[in-house]
Amino acid sequence: MAKHQKFNINSLSDLRHLAEKLKLDIPISESLDILFEVINIAGRVVPNRMVVQPMEGFDSLANGAPGDLTFRRYARYARGGSGMIWFEATSVMQAGRSNPAQLMLTSETLDEFKRLVDTSRKMAVDSFGSSHNPFLVLQLTHSGRFSKPDGILTGKFFSDNPYLDPSKQCSIRYTDEELETIRDHYIEAIKLAEQAGFDSVDIKVSHGYLLHELIAAFTREGSRYGGSFSKRTALLKQLVAAPSSLIRSIRLNASDMIPYPYGFGMKEDGSMNYDLTEPLAVIKGLSESVPLWNITTGIPYYNPHVNRPFDRGISGSATPPEHPLEGVARMINITGEIQQEFPDLPMVGSAYSWLRQFFPYVGAGVLRRNMASLIGVGRSAFAYPDAPRDLMINGSLNPKKVCISCSRCTEFMRRGQASGCAIRDKEIYHSKV
Ligand SMILES: Cc1cc2nc3c(=O)[nH]c(=O)nc-3n(C[C@H](O)[C@H](O)[C@H](O)COP(=O)(O)O)c2cc1C
Ligand code: SF4
Repeated sequence: MAKHQKFNINSLSDLRHLAEKLKLDIPISESLDILFEVINIAGRVVPNRMVVQPMEGFDSLANGAPGDLTFRRYARYARGGSGMIWFEATSVMQAGRSNPAQLMLTSETLDEFKRLVDTSRKMAVDSFGSSHNPFLVLQLTHSGRFSKPDGILTGKFFSDNPYLDPSKQCSIRYTDEELETIRDHYIEAIKLAEQAGFDSVDIKVSHGYLLHELIAAFTREGSRYGGSFSKRTALLKQLVAAPSSLIRSIRLNASDMIPYPYGFGMKEDGSMNYDLTEPLAVIKGLSESVPLWNITTGIPYYNPHVNRPFDRGISGSATPPEHPLEGVARMINITGEIQQEFPDLPMVGSAYSWLRQFFPYVGAGVLRRNMASLIGVGRSAFAYPDAPRDLMINGSLNPKKVCISCSRCTEFMRRGQASGCAIRDKEIYHSKV
């Protein structure tokens, strides 16, 4: 691994040189046409290959309905021109909220979710015409060991994990019966997502939250849902099979970069090397029913640089042990290996924002090499929601509008405040750091 360094790239040629120096194979295409190709997902045409990744804004009303800032964020995305908008982690029940202002989908909040979907579609059509109908996915979640419905940890966990909880703040284990009750809330929320008008529902299996903890529960003994691969994936299978005609999708952690047996997608020798055997088996087992996958890695609370390579971490955090471009390359390669195993199953790639104005060239290079089918951006969407529009009109991005990977939006989240871009959307999100 190379020493961490801040972004210092002024041209594609600089990017190529840096990749060469770090011995990384970063795909680059100077032609961006492929980003504007349509793609068919389970019979629905998606207008282009650019995706807004799910990004929690912590700006809901107390009952979990979208608030004014939520409507504002999704209007900005819809007007920005992305072909797919992956709505943020939305809790299926009060006890599973990661924050008192996390979105929550229930019969009480359904009408406001419907309004959010309708407004987003209308904004997209007003901006780009009726042929531009972005594909809208809702991410459903339960925050498990990270649940803070009242602003403090509930202290409940599914499977012991000394990496994620070294000081044992979580001391109460969810029982199998509790897990089955949570499953029923998911099933209800899947039905509601269909009524709200989304195109797809994502059953989130990533970033250390409950269903991810479940598939990584190697050490949970005496449970119907821990230990063997079939037990760890049993509940996920039940959720995918729940009655609803909505297209299913899954945001999957392909590797946690935490040693086995506490990390998923890792070599069993306890090293820090990833092993995609189990993630590939999860995808294979569900591929008939889940036609869209979004690949991610790492646990933001433990190794945030894996999930979102950055220049500056949150205040007080250690400098990452690798160069950010190595993190970008790891995500590209992992997604590429999975995409090549399942060439007909669309995979969304992640972790492009550190590349700033150069992400479209890498995204296009990745698509050309069939190392992903869609290119997703998270922080870049906070900072520069109309990046796709600028690409359509100007053919390039404006360096003055890009995300600078400063982690201020994550700091807002950690402090339980509404999250957005402190740098490019200052009037709303003043940086208090
Ligand atoms: C403030 C913030 C909120 C996030 N919220 C979510 C979320 O709700 N669901 C999710 O799957 N990932 C979430 N992520 C991760 C992003 O979707 C994305 O994977 C990550 O930022 C890396 O992509 P990027 O380099 O384009 O930012 C969040 C990241 C940040 C910084
Ligand atoms: S605050 Fe803005 S510039 Fe900083 S990481 Fe978040 S989105 Fe990027």
